[in-house]
Amino acid sequence: MDNETKKKINQRYQHELNRGERFWPDSIFKDIIMVSAIFLVLILLATFVGIPAEPKADPSDTSYIPRPEWYFLFLFKFLALYGQIPLLGKIEWIATVIIPGLAVGLLFLLPFIDKNPDRHYSKRVLPISIMGILVVSMISLTMLADVPTGLTTVGYLQTAGGLIVPGLAYIALLIMAFASKNPSTKAMIWTTIVTCALMVGFTVVTLSVYKAPVVEEIAVATTLEEQIQAGQDLYAVQCSECHGEDGKVVKIEGVKGLEGKEIMAINGTDVLYTLNDAALAEVIAYGRPKAGMNPFGKAYNPEGLSKGEIDYIVTFMRYVWDDRFEKPVMKPLYPALAEGEIPSYDVHIAPIIKRYCISCHRPGKDNNDFWMRTYEDLATTGDNAPNLVAHDANSPMLVVIQGTAIPDPADPTQNLVGVMPPNKPLKADIIDVFMRWVQAGMPQTAADAAALPTATPAPKP
Ligand code: HEC
Ligand code: HEC
Repeated sequence: MDNETKKKINQRYQHELNRGERFWPDSIFKDIIMVSAIFLVLILLATFVGIPAEPKADPSDTSYIPRPEWYFLFLFKFLALYGQIPLLGKIEWIATVIIPGLAVGLLFLLPFIDKNPDRHYSKRVLPISIMGILVVSMISLTMLADVPTGLTTVGYLQTAGGLIVPGLAYIALLIMAFASKNPSTKAMIWTTIVTCALMVGFTVVTLSVYKAPVVEEIAVATTLEEQIQAGQDLYAVQCSECHGEDGKVVKIEGVKGLEGKEIMAINGTDVLYTLNDAALAEVIAYGRPKAGMNPFGKAYNPEGLSKGEIDYIVTFMRYVWDDRFEKPVMKPLYPALAEGEIPSYDVHIAPIIKRYCISCHRPGKDNNDFWMRTYEDLATTGDNAPNLVAHDANSPMLVVIQGTAIPDPADPTQNLVGVMPPNKPLKADIIDVFMRWVQAGMPQTAADAAALPTATPAPKP
């Protein structure tokens, strides 16, 4: 600062002094009023508006991925991109401590470093340029926070826009400002404009190229009825192979490794009165590994059930089996059939299979390869395929569900196929639905079934 400016500043100071406005107490007083007003608004907002609370933290949920608040997301993203730089990326503390530390430190030191007396923006091109690039990169990094980094197209685009472009621009600006005696402000302004445009461009392209994966989650059940229904569906697929569709099984059958194992029924007071909801959820999540029940919780089994899904199962068990709770009215498994009406796969057979068979007859079960997931599966899969033949009342599947095992032709003392389901016979009305359906020609859709002549109703078994 030369003497000339010093004198100028001093003059202005004297002038302000003479005007009579004092820092203490006049100016401070104004400040205090303003601060109190803002404080009051905050208190009123907190009392009467508030912010929606997030769900309570669940200490047992290890699948939770912590994320910073939105105003730190840019730093979070910066770290992720920095981590991809070869070699340097391994030294994490450079990005977590040194760089943010330098940035904050620079803010403190700024009054000492920047002694430029001019306040007009045309005289302050370098700081404005640096700050401009910083702000744009903070915004674009925040917008990219949800896009995963990695050695993919979106990963490279982000590294270019979020790290390389601004980095090169800072270097170029500093060279322009300090390497030449007479820095060209025009060049600096253009560098800034081009850099910001490039960063915005890269961000827009990244966001339009990136396709977020579709998360397949069971629909969130809101009403109690929906939760019980969801729980029953999950139970039927996950648990019924061992515990039976109604939890009554006391001797496991048809499950590899546990054949003939005696267990206690889980639908009675022994289990339901001793285990509260949290303990039940814990049993499901952790399983009974020693006894042969594998863990179902995501924490112990990556392909397992989410916390919410386990809660649905617990709700189902509680309301449908626990006699202290009033059993809700459940939707029937399939619409009742009128006399002579022909059932269809979509409306009747699929839900029955899902409730009674799919638990053992799906990929991943290696004691049989009869997969009952789709209409096509039924006639094409299995060692003894076809297990179902349209119009044939003696189809193997119909024989075994009626309680007759199919003997092995090579060794008649052994069964080729045991009775199905192995742990508990089907109710007569369900067997009837299967019989009518096969005898009518196994129509797939409700429309197919309606188009068939109903002249020959299936005999009731
Ligand atoms: C592979 C077979 C298998 C599957 C599948 C299975 N369990 Fe089990 N479960 C067992 C065995 C074995 C036991 C031990 C029973 C015993 O000791 O009497 C058991 C015990 C239980 C108990 C009683 C725990 C106790 O100690 O009181 C409950 C409740 C239970 N299971 C619920 C479920 C639920 C809910 C599912 C589905 C998410 C499920 N199980 C899936 C085999 C299985
Ligand atoms: C507890 C597990 C379990 C359940 C539930 C179950 N099955 Fe099975 N199923 C098996 C096993 C294990 C085999 C292979 C061993 C055998 O044939 O006994 C099998 C085999 C079959 C076969 C012969 C498949 C082939 O080509 O070898 C048919 C048909 C069949 N099941 C039908 C059904 C039907 C229909 C249901 C539902 C109503 C059902 N099963 C429910 C365990 C089960």
